[in-house]
Amino acid sequence: MMKKKVIQAFQKEFGSDPVFITHSPGRVNIIGEHTDYNDGFVLPMAINYATWVALRPRQDNRVVVTALDKNEKLDFDLENFSKGTGGWKEYVTGVAWALQEAGHKLKGWEGVFAGDVPIGAGLSSSAALELALARAFALVSDLDWDPVQMALSCQKAENQWVGINSGIMDQIISASGKENFALMIDCRNLKTIHVPLPKNTRIVILDTATRRDLVDSAYNERRSQCDAVSCHFDVKALRDITQGQLEKRAGILDLTLYRRAQHVISENQRVLDAVKAFKKGDASALGLLMNESHASMRDDFEISREEMDQMVGIAQSQSSCYGARMTGGGFGGCAVALVAEDQVEKFQEQVVREYKEITGLKAKVYLSLAAGGTGFEVLTK
Ligand code: GLA
Repeated sequence: MMKKKVIQAFQKEFGSDPVFITHSPGRVNIIGEHTDYNDGFVLPMAINYATWVALRPRQDNRVVVTALDKNEKLDFDLENFSKGTGGWKEYVTGVAWALQEAGHKLKGWEGVFAGDVPIGAGLSSSAALELALARAFALVSDLDWDPVQMALSCQKAENQWVGINSGIMDQIISASGKENFALMIDCRNLKTIHVPLPKNTRIVILDTATRRDLVDSAYNERRSQCDAVSCHFDVKALRDITQGQLEKRAGILDLTLYRRAQHVISENQRVLDAVKAFKKGDASALGLLMNESHASMRDDFEISREEMDQMVGIAQSQSSCYGARMTGGGFGGCAVALVAEDQVEKFQEQVVREYKEITGLKAKVYLSLAAGGTGFEVLTK
């Protein structure tokens, strides 16, 4: 559907067929929250919601791109561009900048893009856009495609150009997702392991329909609290501290800092345990770890909110649900649940109904299989 949409829009705007289509997915994190920037472990999966770009190369150094959903256009010269005033355009110039910083010689192109990753829901619409754009630049400029290197460039664009201090999880899963598999990422050495989802289960994404302002500042605050603990222990990252070491300093560390570190250290262990559960196909064990992860985010990392706790509680109380937790950066957005496949429909209906009764809010449900990562097609007639 999205593919058709960008092709038709391209034809309308440029009067011919595009030469390339690129696409990159959003993601849902199954477990491992706020661990990526602590050099820890995460376990996301790519979803069937993505950003699509239809494009053709240009003979000059200009990039001309239309954001279909906003009906806005950006036109810039690859040899002379600077930061603008924010919004989606910064992602295009930011990705160009980061690829140039990595030493790539970029060529111009023109195209349109659109996507169906819900924006602001914690499902990584920005990483999807960055990687779809990077794929477009790589195609027209003949660059080798190394998913991890490209993910790093996109993260650099987001951190240093757009100005959002995110970790590496979203870009790596968008670049490296594999159909039917979740991906464990070691965020220290960027090694990945694909793990199959337990049989007869489905991942269900539950959008609480709540968003919070100032998410960025709360995110940055959590990051600096984690850094403060690493500094206290004189280690590179929280990854290097064991539960025992943390406990020994419990009396000395500020209580808030202690709890932040407690979340990250225990969450890293949960990801490792989740990989074992995945490998055994043990949905019950995985579900329990998801439940524990939620409690840890709620009580120790303090990034949940009332509606989210309601949503997670309602999901967990369904007999068809193995486990549920908040997913993503926090303070609203989506929960993720592991549900018995043959009961998904009933589960959805029930959760949406109970959530409405309790909060008055209308939840949305996104169902997705584990999708593949960044890809492209060459359109030939
Ligand atoms: C956001 C960031 C990620 C990660 C999560 C929390 O999605 O972009 O890098 O830190 O929050 O796990």
